[in-house]
Amino acid sequence: FRTDEYELNANEYWNDFYKIHENGFFKDRHWLFTEFPELAPNHNFSKWLLSVLQVGCGAGNTVFPILQTNNDPGLFVYCCDFSNTAVDLVQSNAEYDSSRCFAFVHDLCKDQSLYPMPEESLDIVILIFVLSAIRPEKMQCAINRLSRLLKPGGMILLRDYGRYDLAQLRFKKGRCLSDNFYVRGDGTRVYFFTQDELDALFTTAGLEKVQNLVDRRLQVNRGKQVTMHRVWIQCKYRKPFPAGHGENGHAR
Ligand SMILES: C[S@@+](CC[C@H](N)C(=O)[O-])C[C@H]1O[C@@H](n2cnc3c(N)ncnc32)[C@H](O)[C@@H]1O
Repeated sequence: FRTDEYELNANEYWNDFYKIHENGFFKDRHWLFTEFPELAPNHNFSKWLLSVLQVGCGAGNTVFPILQTNNDPGLFVYCCDFSNTAVDLVQSNAEYDSSRCFAFVHDLCKDQSLYPMPEESLDIVILIFVLSAIRPEKMQCAINRLSRLLKPGGMILLRDYGRYDLAQLRFKKGRCLSDNFYVRGDGTRVYFFTQDELDALFTTAGLEKVQNLVDRRLQVNRGKQVTMHRVWIQCKYRKPFPAGHGENGHAR
């Protein structure tokens, strides 16, 4: 019963989360442009337009750094979240500029609800600590739909929790909903991936691997005198060009 309830009301648990934390959580983004230079200005100098979609954007802690840092005139950033509280926080941010950005409410798992852009129209889809928040059985369908939105040559960029991250090891008995999928005290859920699982999700959706790595870090909290073994996975998967087309998409 509880498992179904967490699924049915998943967006309500995240609404409550954002009512409490507003944009004070998930703020550490110093790695964004070093890990994903694709989002930096001038990186795609061969393109006039760069259209980006961030799914599960939360309060905008990735979207606003992109808009501040990347002044390419052709950049447009779509972002969505199924928490309307999170989307309200993005839209009411002083830096929200509707000529460069569009934030909307969307549930990644609802295959009936349409994205506001046509298929094959996006250069980049960003998934940062969001795929882990959905039920494992729903992941493949969600990735298939996102893959259809990518232009040939476009990429999905993902950073998320890896198997045996400290956060997984700290869950108490009774918090586990299914293999490697847990519910936190506030009702939000989290999955811990292996590289192979992510590779299978992306390649089944017709994408090709550009990067799939484990980032292991030892975080030291000197105040509390604890060391923490963090495990994150970072992936970049590209949509291939149709056969007979070169890197630039032109027919050979
Ligand atoms: C761990 S937070 C990460 C937020 C943001 N990506 C960041 O790094 O600041 C996970 C986010 O995914 C959103 N989310 C979870 N399930 C979702 C779904 N089915 N559809 C859309 N967004 C979802 C939550 O509301 C939350 O904002």
